[in-house]
Order: sequence, then C-alpha cells, then structure tokens
Amino acid sequence: MKFEVPARALCRLGSHRVLEPLGALPQNAWKLDARPVAFANEILCDVDALNIDSASFRQIVEACGGDADRIAAHVRALVAERGKQHNPATGSGGMFVGRVRHIGEALRARSDLKEGARIASLCSLTLTPLTIEEIVRVDMTTGRLWIRGSAILFESCLYAALPDDIPDEVALAVLDVAGAPAQVRRLAKSGQTIVVLGADGKSGMLAVAQARERAGPTGRVVGVAPDAESPGARLLSEHGYVDAFVAADARDALGLVAAVSAIVPELADLTVNCVNVAGTESASILCTKDEGMVYFFSMSTSFTAAALGAEGMGKDVTMIVGNGYAKGHADIALQTLREHPPLHRYFLERYGARNAA
Ligand SMILES: NC(=O)c1ccc[n+]([C@@H]2O[C@H](COP(=O)([O-])OP(=O)(O)OC[C@H]3O[C@@H](n4cnc5c(N)ncnc54)[C@H](OP(=O)(O)O)[C@@H]3O)[C@@H](O)[C@H]2O)c1
Repeated sequence: MKFEVPARALCRLGSHRVLEPLGALPQNAWKLDARPVAFANEILCDVDALNIDSASFRQIVEACGGDADRIAAHVRALVAERGKQHNPATGSGGMFVGRVRHIGEALRARSDLKEGARIASLCSLTLTPLTIEEIVRVDMTTGRLWIRGSAILFESCLYAALPDDIPDEVALAVLDVAGAPAQVRRLAKSGQTIVVLGADGKSGMLAVAQARERAGPTGRVVGVAPDAESPGARLLSEHGYVDAFVAADARDALGLVAAVSAIVPELADLTVNCVNVAGTESASILCTKDEGMVYFFSMSTSFTAAALGAEGMGKDVTMIVGNGYAKGHADIALQTLREHPPLHRYFLERYGARNAA
C-alpha cells in the first residue's frame, strides 16, 4: 500500500497526524490519522497488547454491562472513530506493548532502538495513532486487551525496552502506572504521615512501597480501599508496608476522614490518590493536614472539584496533578518491584503469564 506524506511539516510532537481540529496537538485532538506507516520522524510498531487505563476500563465495563464481546466492539469502534484509544467519558487512555516494525529515516541514526525490539510505550494512548485489526481477547481482571494492530510513536514519545527479568505482562502493569511510585519517592519524606487511597491497586501498592521506604520507621503509612481483606490489602498489612489499612469508600468524604483520623489524628502530610472512580477529591483533601500535600494520580480527578472543594473546606493544601512522567520513572517503578519480593510475587500472580493471550 502506498501512503501520502501529510502536506503539513512533520512535527516532533505529532501535530502532522491531527485530522480534527487542524492545528491541535494529538492529545487535544478529536481525531488522528492512524495510517500504519512511519513517516521520517516516526516509529511504527506492531501492537500485541493494550493496557487500558483503569478509570477508562471501569467506565467501559459499566457501559457494556461487563460483556467482553461488547467491550471489544466498543473499543474497536472508538479507535476507528478517533484514530486513538481516547475514552471521551474519562479523557484517559492507557499504553501499549509491541515490537518496533519500522523506524523513520530521520530517527534511524539517533534512536537507541532497533527494528524488532520489544517495547512498552510510555506516552498515553490518548495521543498515540492506533489501528486495531483484531481484538483477540479482553482480560476483565487486568483491563488488558490482546490485539493485532499497529501504533505510531512520535519523536517526542517516551518508550521503554521491556526488561529481561520481569515478564512482559507484569512489566506492562507496572509501567502503566510508573509515574506514581516515582513521584511518591520524590514527595515523601522521613517521619511523615502518608495516606494512600486506592492502596490495593497497581499504582497504590507501588506508591505504598515507596511511601514506606521514604517515611521510614518514624513515619506512618495508612492504606485505604473498599476492602481491607482483599489479597493486596492483606499483603500490605502482613508485610508491614502499612501501619493500618482502612476499609472505606473514598467517595464518602466524611466517613473516610473519620476512619483515617481515628488512626492518625494528626492527618496526612502527604495524601496519594490512586483510585479509579470519580468523586474522591474531598476525601483526599480532608485527610490531609493544613499545609500538607495531595498528589492526585487518579485520572478520575476533577480539577474543579479539587480546587473548589479545598477552598470550601478552608484547607490550605498543595495539590499536585499526577503527571504520568517523572524522570527515570520506568526504572524506578520496575526497581520498586524487584526490591520488594512480596509485591513482586503478587504482581506475578495477578498480572503474570496466565493473563497472556
Ligand atoms: N496520572 C497518570 O499518568 C496515570 C497513569 C495510569 C493510571 N492512572 C490512574 O490511576 C488510578 C489508579 O490506576 P491503577 O491502574 O492503579 O488502578 P487499579 O489497579 O484498578 O486500582 C484502583 C484502586 O482504587 C480502589 N478503589 C475503587 N473504588 C474505590 C472507592 N470508592 N474508594 C476507595 N478506593 C477505591 C480499588 O479498590 P478495589 O480493588 O477494591 O476496587 C483499587 O485499590 C486510575 O484512576 C488510573 O486512571 C493515572
């Protein structure tokens, strides 16, 4: 098949792939040109698996009544319409794992990649041109879709070579949320009280491990999730990653702050929000002491709810948007797993080979 190079100049951020509205950047765009050919400053990849962002996957599962075939059809239709996996309901995407098929000529000399290399994309699917030929399987537990398809990486896109010592499926789960442990490592300090909402999920567990390391023996780490008896919550309690695990619904701000303040009356120096549902901004703010910090990693966070909620509560807290990228985040996230064998075993069991296509 022959493809025409776009009339617009090739852009390192990928704006030449935007079809609608013209002039936008790919993340803001409604529709991308996803033709599977690498222009001079692009990398074309064959895609094996999509890790759909947890907030997005939850929304899609609900919209499709939990039916795997409907979910597959829904995702295919969305990607065909937009040229990317960008869920309009949540605004979030995910990331992919695949193999480099072709490196555009302008990148060949500069790129550390070789054709045939297995990689994970570290830029969101909300800006990645994507075509899906077939959805082979939908994994309802992990939010992973095994597919045959192709994707384009722009010059500015981040990616990571898949590690040799961690199975691809596990690396995919970890790399999807790599920003969380890396940011917590940066933000948490010795002796602090740290509360992690959504503590028994992927990002939550990695964030808790970093919080425990940073807070040290004089600090306190509290995990929050709906079920304190889930396998992940039990692991965190039994191995001393958390000083306490609170079973609570983070949408119930008053209930949650009552439960948390019963354990840490001083409230949190740092609250980390890793939940995959909307409506948890107030709980995060209320759990945090005055002049403390809230790190909203969750994609279900509303800027308006957080800003106006804090104002209404008279809470002077610093609120940080969960940038998916922090320098070295992929290495930090994978290293967190390597250095914490109980977590490593848990991730292998939950996200490992049995979940391969
Ligand atoms: N900022 C970024 O760049 C970035 C990148 C990737 C993902 N994310 C976002 O990060 C969040 C977590 O992702 P993940 O992959 O770690 O998700 P995950 O593995 O599905 O974990 C979600 C966590 O939220 C908990 N939760 C759900 N409803 C809750 C409620 N009402 N109250 C308290 N906890 C609740 C879950 O508990 P149960 O297991 O009991 O349901 C689980 O602990 C999502 O919003 C995702 O979109 C952000």
